[in-house]
Amino acid sequence: MILVTGGAGFIGANFVLDWLAQSDEAVINLDKLTYAGNLENLASLQGDPRQVFVRGDIGDAALVGRLLAKHRPRAVVNFAAESHVDRSIHGPEDFIQTNIVGTFHLLEAVRAYWSGLADTEKNSFRFLHVSTDEVYGSLAKDDPAFSETHRYEPNSPYSASKAASDHLVRAYHHTYGLPVLTTNCSNNYGPYHFPEKLIPLMIVNALAGKPLPVYGDGQQVRDWLYVRDHCSAIRSVLAKGRLGEVYNVGGWNEKANLDIVHTICTLLDELRPRADGKSYREQIAFVTDRPGHDRRYAIDARKIERELGWKPAETFDTGIRKTVQWYLDNQGWVSHVQSGDYRNWVEKNYAGRA
Ligand code: NAD
Ligand code: DAU
Repeated sequence: MILVTGGAGFIGANFVLDWLAQSDEAVINLDKLTYAGNLENLASLQGDPRQVFVRGDIGDAALVGRLLAKHRPRAVVNFAAESHVDRSIHGPEDFIQTNIVGTFHLLEAVRAYWSGLADTEKNSFRFLHVSTDEVYGSLAKDDPAFSETHRYEPNSPYSASKAASDHLVRAYHHTYGLPVLTTNCSNNYGPYHFPEKLIPLMIVNALAGKPLPVYGDGQQVRDWLYVRDHCSAIRSVLAKGRLGEVYNVGGWNEKANLDIVHTICTLLDELRPRADGKSYREQIAFVTDRPGHDRRYAIDARKIERELGWKPAETFDTGIRKTVQWYLDNQGWVSHVQSGDYRNWVEKNYAGRA
């Protein structure tokens, strides 16, 4: 069996669902269920003995130690994190606590467990750390895409905390020999994406007749990857990645934010036209920029393709259409995640923006 952390969040839940759709190897899913964790994402696994869900914190080394001793997983895949840049600007502390201190305690518990394994199990054990392209900082328009050797230049409290966690993972390999793998992926999108992030926020606001808040001039560039392609990349790295190596994951899919919003409006105009016959583009509102906003991310994904033969299955056109359709088909999920906490966040992040 494998231990997945953060498996009730956006990417973690997609990973658990895909994993169990393709194999019968069981998953222990350790998740704190913060505002971003949602058991409804895993509803289709209810009663399925192949998933053992445990509510808990990766920073609770005693709990993690007990889970490892009891279930004896052959791998740990660490998704658990605070993940939203805007929240890290409003309040960085949780990011330091989970992404840095939490990863440290998790590594300590895993190191203790791994040290006690017999040689065969020890050699085949893996700790896979899921990280982000944001640790590399921001690119100018014509800079080459981030390779694995690009220097770390994180610019937000979120990316700085992820960078620190990447360094800890690296150090546990070099110092203790822990068999680690790290993936640094670009922006994901797809089902179960919490509507605080650009793509789901635009879809749910459009359908609710609310403004579509574009930060600054909307010309910041992100490199978008359909979430299930990220999951297949993680499975490849887990199965075939070289120990201690870093693999960048991306879809060669750079888009300016405003183009993303236009694409969503065009799809909604086709699939769920507004009652007044006007385009959803009418709802676009340019608002005050994010402080320290990174201008451009782009991933050079040649290493993972060359070494492991991984390539994304979706194009942006196919992935974004599936995503918009998923939100149209899952309005119940959308309304459940828009709790009181969600409304407080929207008020906090958007009320002060001109
Ligand atoms: P998310 O915010 O949707 O989910 C995070 C999950 O972790 C939630 O279920 C939450 O309850 C859980 N969690 C938070 N703190 C925890 C703790 N202390 N102990 C246990 N569980 C805890 O995040 P996501 O978008 O699914 O991202 C998952 C991982 O992938 C993160 O590490 C993130 O940095 C990384 N990543 C995300 C993207 C992206 O575009 N979303 C891209 C590259 C990398
Ligand atoms: O690059 C990978 C990262 O992508 C992950 O590590 C993060 O966990 C994930 O949240 C994401 O970070 P971003 O900051 O790029 O994603 P977000 O969806 O918050 O914003 C995408 C872009 O859209 C960014 O340039 C800011 C802009 N934006 C965002 C929001 C929420 C807007 O213009 N308006 C908005 O309301």
